[in-house]
Amino acid sequence: MTLTDIPQIVAIEQEAFTGPWTAEAFVNELTNNHFARYMVMVHDDEVIGYGGMWTIMDEAHITNIAIRYDYRGQGLGKRLLTELQQTAVFFGASRMTLEVRVSNEIAQRLYRKLGFEPAGVRPGYYTDNQEDALIMWAELDSARTESNDEYE
Ligand SMILES: CC(C)(COP(=O)(O)OP(=O)(O)OC[C@H]1O[C@@H](n2cnc3c(N)ncnc32)[C@H](O)[C@@H]1OP(=O)(O)O)[C@@H](O)C(=O)NCCC(=O)NCCS
Repeated sequence: MTLTDIPQIVAIEQEAFTGPWTAEAFVNELTNNHFARYMVMVHDDEVIGYGGMWTIMDEAHITNIAIRYDYRGQGLGKRLLTELQQTAVFFGASRMTLEVRVSNEIAQRLYRKLGFEPAGVRPGYYTDNQEDALIMWAELDSARTESNDEYE
């Protein structure tokens, strides 16, 4: 992800989330946060998905992941998250965590497919409707994430 991607990312963010990040938040991540790693998925010169994380010591924390509405349900989210997992391993992570709305069953299903398991709840984590967040963790098996031949 580069600064020039941000307008397209903010458009996807607004389509995907009730509490979308602002352009400033992404600028800050790309320019001031040394722990941040963000990537985009591009098709025909257009951003169709993106995801990011913070890698700190041996842990990676996913901050956001989204696929443009028209491109969902084609395996792209799985591909993007697999790429994030591989990148996290490259940066030395052995575990990955994220928060997801308890109502977001589609995302939870994706996460379970890629090795995440529920590990607790943060009550009222989402400020727009006080919804609880499910905390999920995955062990990153470097052998598995590096040789995921499904997409090679
Ligand atoms: C969550 C999201 C990134 C998934 O991306 P995607 O490209 O649509 O997902 P994929 O096509 O790779 O599907 C991956 C898995 O997710 C689940 N899934 C995807 N779409 C689904 C649907 N409509 N119904 C049920 N499960 C679904 C399935 O388990 C699927 O695996 P399978 O196809 O092998 O059964 C996408 O729906 C999105 O951008 N949602 C809005 C933003 C969001 O909620 N982000 C997560 C915040 S924590």
